Amino acid sequence: MSSIPIELTPLDRVRAATPELEWGLLDDTIEAIQRLKVERNAIVLAHNYMTPDIFHGVADHQGDSLGLARLAAESTADVIVFAGVHFMAETAKILCPDKTVLIPDLEAGCSLAESITAADVRQLRERHPGVPVVTYVNTSAAVKAETDICCTSSNAVAVVESLGVDKVIFLPDRYLGSYVATQTDVEIVLWDGSCEVHERFTGDELRQYRAETPGIEIIAHPECPPDVLDEADFVGSTAGMIGYVTEHRPSKVVMVTECSMSDNVAAELPDVDFIRPCNLCPHMKRITLTNIRTALEKMRYEVHVATDVADRARVAVERMLAISGTR
Ligand code: 13P
Ligand code: SF4
Repeated sequence: MSSIPIELTPLDRVRAATPELEWGLLDDTIEAIQRLKVERNAIVLAHNYMTPDIFHGVADHQGDSLGLARLAAESTADVIVFAGVHFMAETAKILCPDKTVLIPDLEAGCSLAESITAADVRQLRERHPGVPVVTYVNTSAAVKAETDICCTSSNAVAVVESLGVDKVIFLPDRYLGSYVATQTDVEIVLWDGSCEVHERFTGDELRQYRAETPGIEIIAHPECPPDVLDEADFVGSTAGMIGYVTEHRPSKVVMVTECSMSDNVAAELPDVDFIRPCNLCPHMKRITLTNIRTALEKMRYEVHVATDVADRARVAVERMLAISGTR
């Protein structure tokens, strides 16, 4: 038997994660999307939580929030189809006001983005005069427009420390904010938002996995509660988690995050055993191969951000992208 590793094509990776009965329909839809992308001079940007048919089958680029924002800004395509949630598509539109940005389902939201409004940020500023506001990108454009600088889960500590102050307001994820507070001496004023997917994991459940599966590595997203992060061997953004598993090749691993992450990486790393206590993000799962095809056929749903809001929000996003090591 040969020991030479066989390079998998994108279609092989999709098929590896799909029942054989569905392959015919899948192949047709993927082919239609690839043709439409050429006709429209479009690209598909896919977040790491997309299902394998999207992630491996039709995405031109995959990544975390930071990586996708950067790719949107650099793209020469006329049309960006955002396979992710609404705040991500809005960030792409803020950075690329002249491009057409489409999201296949307008209801693809986020519990963090829902947890805070622009008026809330103005009130916080009144309560903490002179304290800069650092805003996680999981927020609406209107909230970004009220803030000094944005961050993502992969650069939050660097962004907070870049300001050279001893106190910041950090919005809206209380768990990401608490995690940042453990990594810096800067005092963090928190907001009470949380991710409905990551807040459901518990430290107890992870301790049970450790007891049941000796040698297991636990890697977690910083939107998880502190007792979960205390149990983790590595904490990082979705791209950071994929990078860790790809580099370290643990024999058994649990990715404490959204379910599609393990599905996507497992297709590429057959030597790693993914143990799966995972939670589905109902918002991310609104994006399907079928509605991506419809988005390109009907050029819907176009994401709009009012010019004055986009101009102010862009300052906060570009400040983040300009910080050394984050761009
Ligand atoms: P990442 O930036 O780590 O991909 O996180 C985005 C997100 O929504 C995680 O729930
Ligand atoms: Fe928002 Fe959580 Fe879904 Fe990410 S996983 S999009 S933070 S609800």
